[in-house]
Amino acid sequence: MTHVGAVVRRGDTVERPAQPHAPVLHAHLRALAAAGFDAAPTPLGVSEDGLRERLGHVPGEVPLPPFPSWALTDEALRSVAALLRRLHRASASLPVDRTVHWPAELADPEAGSLPDSALILCHNDICPENVVFRGGRAAAFIDFDLTAPGRPLWDVATAARYWVRLSGEDPGAARRLRVLADGYGLTAQERAGLLPTIERAAKAARAFTERRVRDGSPVHLRALADRGGWERWDRHQAWLAANRAALTERLLRDAR
Ligand SMILES: Nc1ncnc2c1ncn2[C@@H]1O[C@H](COP(=O)(O)OP(=O)(O)OP(=O)(O)O)[C@@H](O)[C@H]1O
Ligand SMILES: [Mg+2]
Repeated sequence: MTHVGAVVRRGDTVERPAQPHAPVLHAHLRALAAAGFDAAPTPLGVSEDGLRERLGHVPGEVPLPPFPSWALTDEALRSVAALLRRLHRASASLPVDRTVHWPAELADPEAGSLPDSALILCHNDICPENVVFRGGRAAAFIDFDLTAPGRPLWDVATAARYWVRLSGEDPGAARRLRVLADGYGLTAQERAGLLPTIERAAKAARAFTERRVRDGSPVHLRALADRGGWERWDRHQAWLAANRAALTERLLRDAR
C-alpha cells in the first residue's frame, strides 16, 4: 500500500507497519504455504503492540517506477499471470472467513452477495511493486495488506489495470490482455466477464482516489497530479467502455 519509507529490511527479514488483522494475514500466509504456495513471504511475527510485523525477505528484484523494460515484457506478464493462478489454486483450497474485518475499499464489490463457493481470498494489489522477480520472471508476491474475499476474476481484473495500459496509449493493449488471460488460463466464461469486471475495478479505484483526495492525502494528491488528474481517469474509463466489445472478442478468439 502506501507505507512510504516505513518498510525496513534487516538482513533476511523485513519489518513493516502491520494491519490491525495482521495475525489473520500471517495465518493466511502459513495456510497458503501449507497448501503448496511457497511464493510469498514467510510470516515471522507481529510486535507486541501490534503496530509492526516481521516477514521473511524474498530475494530478487522488485520493479519500482519508472519500471525497467524487463518488467514490462509479455514474458514477465505471462509469469505474473501464471503465479496468480498458482496463488488462486492454493487459496481455493482454504476456507474464507467472512467474519474478519477485511479491507473493503478495493475488494470485489460482489463478494457480499455471492456464496462462499464463488469466493477465495484475493490479493487485490498485484502491481509491479508487489511482485519479486528472478531472471525476469515473477517469483513471489508480497504485500498482502489488501487481501479480502472476492471472485478470482476480480484479482485478474485488478492485475490487468496495473499491467496493461488501458487508455489508448498502448497499441499492444489487446495483446497484453490476451497474454494475461492465457497466462492465467481464464475460461471462456471468465474471458467474457473480464472487461466488465475491469470497468467495475476502475470505478472502485477511482472512488478510492476521490475519497483520499477529498481527505487531503498528500500521496494521493501528488499521484493524481503526476498522472494527469481526473481527465486521465475519464479517458481510461471512456476507452474501456468504447473498446469493451473489441477487447472481449480478442480475448475469446480461438480461446481453448
Ligand atoms: N518480503 C519482502 N521481500 C522482498 N522485498 C520486500 C519485501 N517486503 C517489502 N519489500 C520491498 O519493499 C517495498 C515496499 O514494501 P511493501 O510493498 O510490503 O509495502 P508498501 O506498503 O507497499 O510500501 P510502499 O508504500 O513503501 O511501497 C516493496 O516494493 C519491495 O521492494
Ligand atoms: Mg507494496
